[in-house]
Amino acid sequence: MIPESFIQDLLHRVDIVDLIDAHVPLKKAGANYAACCPFHNEKSPSFTVSPQKQFYHCFGCGAHGTAIGFMMEYSGMGFIDAVKDLASRSGMQVPEEEGRQIRDESRGNTRDLAEVMAKAAAYYREQLKASPKAIDYLKRRGLTGEIAAKFGIGYAPDGWQNLEAIFPNYNAPELLAAGLVIENDQGRRYDRFRDRVMFPIINPKGEVIAFGGRVLDAGEPKYLNSPETPLFEKGRELFGLPQARAALRETDTAIVVEGYMDVVALAQHGVGNALATLGTATTATHVQKLLRQVDRVVFCFDGDNAGRKAAWRALENSLETLPDQKTIGFVFLPETHDPDSFVREFGKDGFNRMVAQATPLSDFLLRELGSHCDLTSAEGKAKLVAEAKPLLQKLQTPLLRLQLVKRLAEISGFSQPEIERLCELRAITRPAPARSPRQSPAASFMRKLIRLILQKPELALRLPLASLPPDVPETRTLHRLVALVRESEGSIPGYAMLLERLRGGALDEDSLLLKNAASDLMHEPFAEDELESEFAGTLAIFARDAQKDEIEALKAKAQALGIAGLSSDEKARYVALLTARSTSAGPGLNNG
Ligand code: UTP
Ligand code: MN
Repeated sequence: MIPESFIQDLLHRVDIVDLIDAHVPLKKAGANYAACCPFHNEKSPSFTVSPQKQFYHCFGCGAHGTAIGFMMEYSGMGFIDAVKDLASRSGMQVPEEEGRQIRDESRGNTRDLAEVMAKAAAYYREQLKASPKAIDYLKRRGLTGEIAAKFGIGYAPDGWQNLEAIFPNYNAPELLAAGLVIENDQGRRYDRFRDRVMFPIINPKGEVIAFGGRVLDAGEPKYLNSPETPLFEKGRELFGLPQARAALRETDTAIVVEGYMDVVALAQHGVGNALATLGTATTATHVQKLLRQVDRVVFCFDGDNAGRKAAWRALENSLETLPDQKTIGFVFLPETHDPDSFVREFGKDGFNRMVAQATPLSDFLLRELGSHCDLTSAEGKAKLVAEAKPLLQKLQTPLLRLQLVKRLAEISGFSQPEIERLCELRAITRPAPARSPRQSPAASFMRKLIRLILQKPELALRLPLASLPPDVPETRTLHRLVALVRESEGSIPGYAMLLERLRGGALDEDSLLLKNAASDLMHEPFAEDELESEFAGTLAIFARDAQKDEIEALKAKAQALGIAGLSSDEKARYVALLTARSTSAGPGLNNG
């Protein structure tokens, strides 16, 4: 819970042009700045940053957001981390909700924990240099010093209290909270990691949040991992994410593997876009995180039975979060291989070929379901449909779902509508496509009103909401805009702030309409001195159209029922409207 006033101050303090320029060099282009989009592959720049409105927009892929949004998309951070990161860059202190501070104190303040982890990681790296045995192990696994350094690999020497050398207060609560030491029943502490090669897990901010430690020889467990701590939640984190950043952008593909060594060995062979889940199944959060950064996620698990199971879990957890235009694939390696051994035997090209030929999600899904249903019998076909039902229901991707339904129909012998009924598939409600054809003149005027309000939020306060046509997305968005501007009590929020306020809970429809309006503004802002007259003119057209509709309705009723069919109020209104029309047929409003 970060107070909104703080977000507002922060957006005020950070300059989005400086921020983005530090990551993606920008060139001035008229009133805005432009670059090749960091979120998709392109040769000519369609990524635009508005210094006035403090947002970015890509005319190619539709990426759109504020400084906070940029940090989230670009570095894969969550909202809170992005805010904290920007705050620390601009010397601001994020005020925390009280409850959270109390909880943090008892579990160790996360900043203290991050410091402790950083210190431990540096120590392990130093120890690796001093250990011929550990160096030899990494060499035998084919790693160069360069790759070991890139991943910050270290070595925890044998012995029970080695960390005392760098933490004179070995009893500090942070060491326990960070999971670096273990306390036995007698309250005596000892190092968690002993005689292991250490793989640090680093978050997008560059903080070490956990370790995985591998035994050098045989021994149990093969990998020992940090416990979950306030810094580290397994189901959210991926090993190798910061190291993969550039390769993810370049290839627009993320390869998810199972093991630390898989990631490192792939990088060693020039495949830089691999990441590993941390001894857990792939979660929806993992997939979501990756799909924010790339358009294609390929799961590449070991070629054994466990690998297949892991792939299926990944499929199940991907369905809900899979948007249209993003694809998911599965690579099944030969039985005896994992990605590490495969890339060592067949090299980068061999591996990339497997990735390029990955089985699409739909094929894997149907094949897997089909494999345990006897499709020659009626019962087997019914079973197939029954098993597909929960999966299809999870999918929010209309095109993919339709394809699956069609193929299920072919395989099962049911018709397409039958499958839809049997699986109780409801229409997927989704926002109108980004550039939908204008539905009605009213809608286009309303979009103009949205643009005007984005450019000058004060106008919202003068919008006669009651006169807007009901039940259209534009009206709902305008209502929400007006509410947002009203809520901000005096201080009128800029566009960047409106975007941030819509982040939680808003209808997608709203964000989409706003996004389109904002990108229109980026191209063609209204001249400041025309804002008022544009606003008044647009409202006047509404009033005129509404009147016309009312007259038409009364006229139709009178024609159907005879003039006696109108109540006396209706008659009076009809006359008044006709009179008003004949006298006000003056100003020809241009409709932009
Ligand atoms: P694997 O057993 O497949 O090991 O575990 P690996 O990655 O091929 O390791 P090497 O090549 O023998 O060094 C895959 C992943 O499962 C988790 C780790 O994240 C590991 O990278 N794991 C495995 C554990 O957490 N603990 C274990 O004891 C074993
Ligand atoms: Mn392996």
